[in-house]
Amino acid sequence: MYVDFHSHILPNADHGSESVEMSLMQLYCAERAGVDTIVATPHFYPAEDTVDAFLERREKAYEKLAKAGLHGIKIVKAAEVQIGIDIEKLPDLSKLCIEGTNFILVEFPPEPWPYWLCESVKEIARDRRLRPICAHIDRYSHIGRDKIMDMNFDVQINASAFLDSRRYRNYYLDLVADDAIHILGSDAHGDGRDAYKKFSAATKKIGKLMPYMTENARKILSAGEKKKIGTFL
Ligand SMILES: [Fe+2]
Repeated sequence: MYVDFHSHILPNADHGSESVEMSLMQLYCAERAGVDTIVATPHFYPAEDTVDAFLERREKAYEKLAKAGLHGIKIVKAAEVQIGIDIEKLPDLSKLCIEGTNFILVEFPPEPWPYWLCESVKEIARDRRLRPICAHIDRYSHIGRDKIMDMNFDVQINASAFLDSRRYRNYYLDLVADDAIHILGSDAHGDGRDAYKKFSAATKKIGKLMPYMTENARKILSAGEKKKIGTFL
């Protein structure tokens, strides 16, 4: 059984799912893909939202879905926090961590990035004592990917990355084997049919490295234990 570490499954918590019915379809597809735990990571855009409003919206969405039934899948509440100006100073930033841990899933804006961007992420770790996990590394250019991996935090990759050309797939598999990429997510939006078809296909492509990725995810969720420690700490 697998952990989907990045999903937009909560109804109306963001643009991921527009109804409970759509979320239930996502859950059904996740279950069929062998997923038993989903980290729900609605978008948090600091320029447009407040932590309190986000948490209230997320809780309502979770309760609605839980009432409709979760297909036996465990949903862990979290957020996908976009890095913006002064994000490291945001009061209550810790409330956006993955429930029960001090890990926080962070998303980088479209490139090119301002000079302070990676410094902000490092300050989240150094000054706020939180543990950033960098979302969907496959979304960025090779320059962005290198900058993210140089920070030495935990790194999440989307399942679709393993379904690209064989060259890219091997490149990402090498990075997983080198302990540079750690966790898998679907980043499911919509009804989940396409996302979980890809997730399932990716688990097969990842093959013998899949237990390593699943174990990393479960370690983070259960013990809050970080795999890697940034060298700057
Ligand atoms: Fe996402």
